[in-house]
Amino acid sequence: MPAPAASPSSAAPLPRTRVVVIGAGPAGLTVANILRAASVDCVVLEAQSREFIEQRPRAGFIEEWAVRALAARGLADRLLANAPTHTECEFRFEGERHRFPYAELSGRRHFVYPQPLLVTDLVAKYADEAAGDIRFGVRDVRLHHVDTEHPAVSYTDPATRERRRIECEVIAGCDGARGVTRACLPPERTTVARHDFGIGWLALLAEAPPSSDCVVFGIHPRGFAAHMARTPQVTRYYLECPPGDSPDNWPHDRVWSELRARLRVDGGQPLAEGRLIEKRVLDMHNHVVAPMAYGRLYLAGDAAHLAAPIAAKGMNLALHDALLLGDALVAYCGKGDGDGLSGYSEACLRRVWQYEEFSQWLSELLHGASSGDPFRAGTAGARLRRLLGSPAAASAFAEMYIGKDVDH
Ligand code: APR
Repeated sequence: MPAPAASPSSAAPLPRTRVVVIGAGPAGLTVANILRAASVDCVVLEAQSREFIEQRPRAGFIEEWAVRALAARGLADRLLANAPTHTECEFRFEGERHRFPYAELSGRRHFVYPQPLLVTDLVAKYADEAAGDIRFGVRDVRLHHVDTEHPAVSYTDPATRERRRIECEVIAGCDGARGVTRACLPPERTTVARHDFGIGWLALLAEAPPSSDCVVFGIHPRGFAAHMARTPQVTRYYLECPPGDSPDNWPHDRVWSELRARLRVDGGQPLAEGRLIEKRVLDMHNHVVAPMAYGRLYLAGDAAHLAAPIAAKGMNLALHDALLLGDALVAYCGKGDGDGLSGYSEACLRRVWQYEEFSQWLSELLHGASSGDPFRAGTAGARLRRLLGSPAAASAFAEMYIGKDVDH
């Protein structure tokens, strides 16, 4: 049963649940659905409205292992019915295209399913089908006593503006890169490892159909560019730019002329152009928080680690954490088995570090040519030629790109 709504009376017993999940992104909603399916009481607290999270443009590529894991829990019906799959990517440089058949090499594909669609499905499953308790628009979420056996979460109710408090056993911090839960980890016991790529990416959404049937990486001395399908009507593009650059420096005509130049291929079709409906500059950096747990608080997804969109890893890592955390919480709440929770951070971080390393490796390959440093340009060129020329290098890349068997 969902936890009862908080009572304004101070004499009433405090509302209780077993797990409070903070944040309704892919991580929080996956955890909540796993708990709900196992009849473990939980409450999800989300700062935004349902409409907002169902439309917020974010990541778009889900690796096959993650799709299979969601499907095994009944969370991928619409995804499997509707998502196109990608089996190849393409590198373009010096006016030539080089197709890279990673699915042939790895036996695994990507599913192209934008995050808002996945979030929509997961909310519907949890809130509508399973009658799970989810509270949207909550304000000023605060965590209490996370280092005791009786933690609690309080928040301001958006309708009444009153403070509510929920007592629980465990808190799942799934509130993304700008959430509040990470700040509850004591600094003296926490390492925050950060890597700054020293570049920006102008992230664009164009109201235009995709111009290729796969992800295109354009390597160019003027800066990297990328093309990624989203839906038949909308396409994601990226343009490397200086960190801290303003989107205002990128009017429509400049964007399209740079995309044309950096993704140029001799004899290729022109890009399908369209209105730019999103334009923001991402300062490219990665970070990892370790351990991902303190007391009764467990972090999952972007709350614990950030992977710049270089290799489309963010949503996949969020799902990996959430699947492990959901299962560990079910074991703990159902049978009192705490092994999954005690090994949770270490198990997540193994994959996190593999993906972080891959994103750094791929970044160098993609940005070396435009770094202005002839040594980096030379080594990046060597890396690319090896990738395209050596079957062993190609297999290793394919395995990491699709995230297969990387829990080393
Ligand atoms: N209280 C409640 N909810 C919050 C708070 C807060 N203080 N702060 C943030 N949130 C909510 C956000 O509104 C968002 O809906 O937490 C959710 C976090 O979701 P995501 O940012 O999508 O994070 P996660 O579930 O870890 O998924 C990671 O997001 O940025 C992409 O590429 C990344 O695809 C990856 C995914």
